[in-house]
Order: sequence, then structure tokens, then C-alpha cells
Amino acid sequence: MNKDNSNLLEKIVSLCKRRGFIFPGSEIYGGLRGTWDYGPLGSELKFNLKQSWWDYMVRERDNVFPMNASIMMNPRVWEASGHVASFTDPLIECKTCHERFRADKQEDIKEHEERHAKNKEKVEWTEPKQFNILVEAKLGVIEGEKTTVYLRGEITQGVHVNFKNIVDSMHPKIPFGVAQIGKAFRNEITPRNFIFRSREFEQMEMQTYVKPDEKEAMEMFEAMKNFRMKWYLDLGMNKKKLRFREHAPDERAHYARAAWDIEYETPWGWDEAEGIHHRGDWDLSRHSQFSGQDLSYFDQEAKERFIPWVIETSAGVERPLLYFLLDAYTEEGDRVVLKLHPKLAPYKAAVFPLLKNKPELVAKAQGIYKELKNNFTVAWDERGNIGKRYFAQDEIGTPCCITIDFQTLEDDTVTIRDRDTMKQERVRADELNEILKKMAD
Ligand code: GAP
Repeated sequence: MNKDNSNLLEKIVSLCKRRGFIFPGSEIYGGLRGTWDYGPLGSELKFNLKQSWWDYMVRERDNVFPMNASIMMNPRVWEASGHVASFTDPLIECKTCHERFRADKQEDIKEHEERHAKNKEKVEWTEPKQFNILVEAKLGVIEGEKTTVYLRGEITQGVHVNFKNIVDSMHPKIPFGVAQIGKAFRNEITPRNFIFRSREFEQMEMQTYVKPDEKEAMEMFEAMKNFRMKWYLDLGMNKKKLRFREHAPDERAHYARAAWDIEYETPWGWDEAEGIHHRGDWDLSRHSQFSGQDLSYFDQEAKERFIPWVIETSAGVERPLLYFLLDAYTEEGDRVVLKLHPKLAPYKAAVFPLLKNKPELVAKAQGIYKELKNNFTVAWDERGNIGKRYFAQDEIGTPCCITIDFQTLEDDTVTIRDRDTMKQERVRADELNEILKKMAD
């Protein structure tokens, strides 16, 4: 097996465009920096990734409540959360060409200086100034009287402002979790590395409310760290390319008492996949103070009232998605294989009639295809020779290909070819549902 990592990111970007995974946003108008559009296969992959997170974090656990809050919120939310004052990145500007960069991203700065050095220019930078990355929108129907609102910079606040609603409607017993998946927006100074740093992206978050007790909070923190790491491993990500990293105190977000990242070894070095944060009582206390509402919790068992603390797990969708693609990309001889976990693969199987000019084969294959489509996402391909069709499916990560040939017409068996081993087996057509189900689990 040859895993050639040179230009790996470029290869992924090209595959994503060519095979309908991810396109530059608004491409025919020259694009919009930091935005990406998910095509047919990318949408399936993204859906599967979110579904897997949802099953793992919500459906398979007790005492976890789902939420789906608005993207636009009352601007006071963001004053209370500290984002208006503190959701900033240090910005510097090149005095020669006026391009702007994040002062804490040495790699970008070095690259820019090297670019100027080629023209024998030495870069002079402005002093760093704090730049707020909340994205503003105007809401209202009268020009001049529109209200400025913020598109949420993290999906988190939609959960915390609903804390009282959840407690009053669901009567959860502490500790309990509230989970949400949704879009977030950041006016990133330098979007880069494909979908890694975008201006519009999705997050998958779990806010776990715990008693205000450092020992209990840290036990939950450790449990969550390990539980989140297991998700990547269960989905087949290479263990050697994953690690934890603790944030230094000066690196932590304004709300965090402790913060660890799960990192992946990307072609540009180790970088963040998701964060686990100890947010203490920051959010509920601030919203209590700013809204004037009582956001405490009454513990029936201990007969105590308190403001709970929060342990958060906050993953993007795009970063794990990119890492799963990087991890899965394999070159073997003259084929490219995306060795994605079957749960993530856009199609679970592809169905081929051996020859497209034999109506009886096509009709039989269509019957099998339609039957499988009731339960799985399945591709249909009748073009070109079988070898090319296999390779085309390998490149998009389809775990198996099912071929309907003349023997199928006689004994109702088909060949099923495994993406990774390329082994072919003959199985009964009526076993296919069960085989795919087992594989996807
Ligand atoms: N609620 C906490 C929070 O938002 P964060 O570390 O700022 O924490 C969490 O973001 C995750 O969101 C990151 O680990 C990353 O996966 C994703 N993320 C953040 N900014 C991003 C961006 N500009 N583009 C893509 N994903 C991003």
C-alpha cells in the first residue's frame, strides 16, 4: 500500500471538486472567501457524520436533551456571553500590500514574508489590534431603523438561554446534557486550508450541566474527553494521528477555566478537531445577570439550589470531515481508494448490471437496486467496463459493489466486491440487505 502524503491536501481538494463532494462557494461569481458548498456526495458525507455524532452523543445515551435554536438572537445575548467584548483575534496588517493576518498564526505570517522576500521586499507589520469576529446582519423593515444582530459565533448560547425552558419542561436530573448541531459564523481574518477555517461552518456541541463542584466537574471533563476521542477511533481514524492537547492559560477562550483540544496530524501539522471546555458558571451567571431571570437549578435530592457548571464538548463538522477524508485517502497501484468507515461513506453500495445492452440484466439489476434503496443510499452505474466502475466507486469510498451477471438470472446470486480487499464473493441476492446492514453497523 502506498500512502503518498505529498500534496495530500491538494489531492483531497481536487477529488472533492471532481467527484461532487465540495465546491468553492458562489464559484461562478468568483467565489466568496471562506464559504464552501457541499455537492451530492459531500452532502451525504456531512449528513452521515452528523448522524453518527447524534446517535453517539444523544440517542445512545440517557439524560441528554436535543435542542435546535435560532441562528439570530437578541444582541444582548452576545453582550452577556462576553463575545461582543472578547470574541476577538489579534490582527496585523502588512504595510506594503495592506493584506491582513492573524498575529498568532506564525505559519501565515512566514508565508507572506517569504512572498515579499522573493521581490526583495522586507515586510513591515502594523501593531496587533483586537478584531471582533462576530458577523453582523441588519434586521428590520425600515431603512435607517434596522437593528444590528449577530449571526451566532458559537451555537452554544442558544442552549444556555433556554436552560430554564429545558428545566421547566423536561425536569432533568443533574448531571444532564443538552446537544445541538447547527451553523455558526465567524468573520475569520484568514480563512485557509480548504474547509478547515471557514467563515460559515457547522458545530456539534454537548453542554453538560453539572453540580458546582470541582471534583465532579473534572470527573465529567475527563470522561467527556475520552468519550469524544473514542468517537473518532470507532469511526476508524488512525490512532497515531490523534492526540489531546491542553490549552495554555493565555490561549483559553474568555469563558473557559480549562480547555483541551483533540488534534489531528494534518499535512500542515497538528491542528484542532474539537475542544472540550470547562465553562464553569460563566454562561448561566452572565445570562442571569443580563436578563434578570433566575437561571438556578433546584436539586431535589440534595435539597440545594445552585447555578450549575458546564462541561462542553464542541466539535466542528467541517474539520472532522476533512480529517476523515485525509485519513481515508489511499493510493494503491493505479487506483485511489477512500477507505471511509461504511457509516460515513456517501453510498453504502453500488449496483451494476454487467452489460448495459442486455435488457434482462438491466431489469434484474434495477430490481435489486430499488430494493436496496429502501434502506440504504445506493449508487447505480451501467457505464463503461466493470473495472472502471469499481475504481470510480473506490475513489468516492463506496464500501462494496454488487454486480448482476448472467448467473444471477439463473440462480439469483450476485457478486459482491469489497472496496478495501478487492475480493469478490458470490452471495444470494436476498442476503444483500442483511450484509449491508451488518457492514453499516
Ligand atoms: N462553543 C465553543 C466553541 O465554539 P471553539 O473552539 O471556538 O469553541 C469549536 O470552536 C469547534 O468549532 C472547533 O474545534 C472547530 O472544530 C470548529 N470551528 C471553529 N472555528 C471554525 C472555523 N472558522 N471553520 C471551521 N470550523 C471551525
